[in-house]
Amino acid sequence: MTQRIAVIPGDGIGPEVARIGVRVLESLGLPLQFDWFDFGANRYLRDGTTLPAGFMDTLRRDYAAVYFGAVGDPRVPGNEHAKGILLAMRFELDLYINLRPCILIDDRLSPIKGKGCAQLKFVVFRENTEGLYAGVGGVLKKGTPDEVAHEVEVNTRKGVDRILEAAFAYAERQGLRKVCMTDKANVLVHGHGLWRRAFAEASRRHPAIQAKAMYVDALAMDLVRQPEAYEVIVTNNLFGDILTDLGAALTGGLGLAASGNIHPGRVSLFEPVHGSAPDIAGQGKANPLAMALTGALMLDHLGHARESQLLVRAVEEQVREGARTPDLEAFLGGPVSTTDQVGSELLGRLQRAAQSRL
Ligand SMILES: NC(=O)c1ccc[n+]([C@@H]2O[C@H](COP(=O)([O-])OP(=O)(O)OC[C@H]3O[C@@H](n4cnc5c(N)ncnc54)[C@H](O)[C@@H]3O)[C@@H](O)[C@H]2O)c1
Repeated sequence: MTQRIAVIPGDGIGPEVARIGVRVLESLGLPLQFDWFDFGANRYLRDGTTLPAGFMDTLRRDYAAVYFGAVGDPRVPGNEHAKGILLAMRFELDLYINLRPCILIDDRLSPIKGKGCAQLKFVVFRENTEGLYAGVGGVLKKGTPDEVAHEVEVNTRKGVDRILEAAFAYAERQGLRKVCMTDKANVLVHGHGLWRRAFAEASRRHPAIQAKAMYVDALAMDLVRQPEAYEVIVTNNLFGDILTDLGAALTGGLGLAASGNIHPGRVSLFEPVHGSAPDIAGQGKANPLAMALTGALMLDHLGHARESQLLVRAVEEQVREGARTPDLEAFLGGPVSTTDQVGSELLGRLQRAAQSRL
């Protein structure tokens, strides 16, 4: 049965990398149908649309996944369109798992002396619908010297339980042994106390997994000191956001970092970790490999594990021996190629790999 994918390229480098990502996925010959949507800053500035009414229902009814580029445009003050597009989908589709693999694919990309592919391979499960991103709060006496601003962190037992369960289940499925939950329970005693209690119970349900709770500041330090100690990390929305930028920096940068926003069994959204990168947009400098790896995550989620692995291997080979954009040139040396050149080479690799299997 054909699986329909809603493609939302978005802003800045989003369309540049989405075009390549879709060509790469199409080349795999799977029963996937890609439908393009123009939501982003241009549409918002033209007619005020973020997502049209009824779009969430359309996604729930007709689509298996969303393949998303990036949103963010300096012409939109406060990026309010991004909230109406990306955050709206994360929250309204209840995509509670933000899965972010931080896996090094070439030793030369490691910024840490003595740590390579064997040491840098952890996966972060970030809670994606609550925490400090729930939008609960307010401002009093705005703009005056007496201004008061509250941002309330939302932690529900249901929300914490389900992300913890997802992390443990993933570890078991992948044959991994360790899950680390990270918080700041020494200071944020109420909300993060809940995380501690829920984690202790979840670890009792999964006795074969080594479960460890750590304060987030200690973990940030340890991820640089001994990243090999971590396999699965599970945490709240804010800490997951920050730690995965660290994770991206440890594994080749934003040009290689992929993510999934997932609700198991429902339409889910896959996007690179990077934003719309207005500083390099339209210059052919964007690395399309994060989008390609995001496609591999999506394929895996949609039940195409073999093609997903094929694509990951092609990206690894591309990084090892192929054309590269400026972000990777800094690690690997030149010459520098454009987004499209990297994309075309990756397509060629996939076609050769597919032929050699025939
Ligand atoms: N999920 C999203 O859509 C998302 C995520 C983060 C930021 N944003 C938005 O994107 C805009 C820019 O934000 P930012 O600059 O903080 O983050 P960014 O990720 O867009 O860029 C950070 C830096 O990384 C570089 N970079 C990013 N992706 C790259 C790629 N594929 N190849 C090579 N270099 C790459 C950029 O050139 C920039 O120097 C803002 O409007 C922000 O709100 C959107």
